[in-house]
Amino acid sequence: MAVKATEELRTAKPVLHGLPGDELYTITDPMDGEALLELLEQRRMAFWNSKPDAEKSHYQGYSGISRDKLLNSLRRQTHAELAAVHAPDVSVQICPWQEIKMDYARQMNEEGRHFRLIRDHLLELGGEWNDEYTPDFPEWNQLFALFMGLDNRFFLDPAREVVARATVLNFGIEGWDHLYVQPLFLKIARQVDETLADIYEEVVMPDETFHFSIGQRVLREHCGDRADLQRVAVEYLDKQLVAHHKVNLSFPAYHKRIGLTEG
Ligand SMILES: [Fe+2]
Ligand SMILES: [Fe+2]
Repeated sequence: MAVKATEELRTAKPVLHGLPGDELYTITDPMDGEALLELLEQRRMAFWNSKPDAEKSHYQGYSGISRDKLLNSLRRQTHAELAAVHAPDVSVQICPWQEIKMDYARQMNEEGRHFRLIRDHLLELGGEWNDEYTPDFPEWNQLFALFMGLDNRFFLDPAREVVARATVLNFGIEGWDHLYVQPLFLKIARQVDETLADIYEEVVMPDETFHFSIGQRVLREHCGDRADLQRVAVEYLDKQLVAHHKVNLSFPAYHKRIGLTEG
């Protein structure tokens, strides 16, 4: 598609400032996809590097995890896998790129497998699962609502919607899981639950690497010639970073509120 004229480009109010890639909010001549991806990687790293370790993941401070905290976490994780089936399902219906559509079909299959593995393990440990479950704290639900509903915003162009959702879920959340959160989680899980650690090491983590790569591919291969998509990408990366950081910040108070203080 040809470069859009400046007047057709929506300018969003920047969510974050002072990071690599600020210029993407007002870009008119699109950069190539490789350069875009690299810049967004730098922006993400700069954001998380500006935070203390305790705010980079909600698994910080999980050493010596109690049984109740583990069950609470597994229920939330089971639910997260369901959400991870639903989000690509929304994108697959409108995605204008054949290869990405097929990648999303594969992702849905894999997330379904994660759902079953983690739910079954939760049940083996004596935990409960029911389909009405919803996580009981608002910050978590807000992060998930961001990639499902995209701020309640209606995109006339399906490419913009797919880019926004891929940036939040695949590049933002799953990318950070792949790079930082899951290796940390795996170390903790090894100390308390070998089966869970095996599930993550052998199945979930390799699949997550692929899910992250879908986000990278969308940005690199499908945003290279469109300034409007590059603006959407930076805006939704920022929204994801802010929402994800809020989740991490909210965990200690959440655990306290429901009486999970040990470990
Ligand atoms: Fe998953
Ligand atoms: Fe995933």
